[in-house]
Amino acid sequence: MSLFDRTTVRLRPEIVALAAYKQGKPADASAYKLTSNENPFDPLPGVIAAVRAETSFNRYPDASALSLRERLAGQYGVDANQVHVGSGSVALLAQLILAAAGPGDTVLYSWRSFEAYPSLVSVAGATSVCIPNRPDHGHDLLKMADAIDEDTRVVIVCSPNNPTGTVVSHDEFEAFMAVVPSNLLVILDEAYTEFVTEANAVSGPGLLSRYSNLVVLRTFSKAYGLAGLRVGYALGPVAILNAARSTAIPLSVTAQAAAAAIASLDAETELLERVRIIAARRDATWHELTRQGWMVPRPQGNFLWLPTESATAQIADTLGAAGLVVRSFVNEGIRISIGEERAMATLLGMTADLVDALGSDSPARQIG
Ligand SMILES: Cc1ncc(COP(=O)(O)O)c(C=O)c1O
Repeated sequence: MSLFDRTTVRLRPEIVALAAYKQGKPADASAYKLTSNENPFDPLPGVIAAVRAETSFNRYPDASALSLRERLAGQYGVDANQVHVGSGSVALLAQLILAAAGPGDTVLYSWRSFEAYPSLVSVAGATSVCIPNRPDHGHDLLKMADAIDEDTRVVIVCSPNNPTGTVVSHDEFEAFMAVVPSNLLVILDEAYTEFVTEANAVSGPGLLSRYSNLVVLRTFSKAYGLAGLRVGYALGPVAILNAARSTAIPLSVTAQAAAAAIASLDAETELLERVRIIAARRDATWHELTRQGWMVPRPQGNFLWLPTESATAQIADTLGAAGLVVRSFVNEGIRISIGEERAMATLLGMTADLVDALGSDSPARQIG
């Protein structure tokens, strides 16, 4: 061990113990990257032009990204102060958790869900309370409500849930909110909402006027294809968003990111047509997997979840060897982003044999 590998500096032990954020594996040029729920379409020329036009990067950006907030406020029929913009919705999650929960407090969420939640909670000094997903891989909102106690400060609801793809229904969410104390922050993480086709799924913005403790998170990373530029937004009560603003690292949203987001809203019709294509590709892939004998929760994001448990590593390796780089969660399952048409065709060409090789007791296999 060299001098650079060790330190006598007293670091926070809970931070030292954290695993660093694990990004989806990169894929080489001949492979398909289906690890990070990115949008497979190239950026639109108009969006590229808007980024190129922002050349004054010797100057700091507008700290509050006012033009983008005003644009979003108009879209959702709220005041610009009820919109907060961050460098990705993950930054907003971090800010909101920091604003509401600290040492001795707990943050409640369903698990498995978005990988960033546990570490964001630990960084805030708070403690995670995780309620296992139901056997159908959706949130167990009844058990989550039961788990709320005097230490709970934040509840995160993720719909569609990453990585299982399930949604919370409007009625389930309303029933949940009816029993959640109003002094507890509820974050509805809707990073994949634009891909949802299920009519009764919850949709946060329409509920904001009803709940003074609800914040809705959305992002330009997925449906709008701006993952690399880092821009997401929160909609909610001004007092909560102001507290989040106070925890933010200033000036994180670049002028280029804000311009790209506005140009994407200008090109929404075209971008939402791409979303429709991805959702249709997702549904076709899900139907074929189901026909082959897979048990896959009905996906509502831009990804699928195969609950392959002990067969996870082997199947992920087999797919990887065929040029499909997927996200595997050891002994739990595999998340596959909906990518290029050819990637999905390659996948379906392999999955019939893979499901046959699964043990008859595998949860990824239909019974009978
Ligand atoms: C459920 C969920 N929320 C939030 C995010 C963060 O997205 P971003 O920070 O790119 O907006 C992701 C990204 O994968 C996600 O899956």
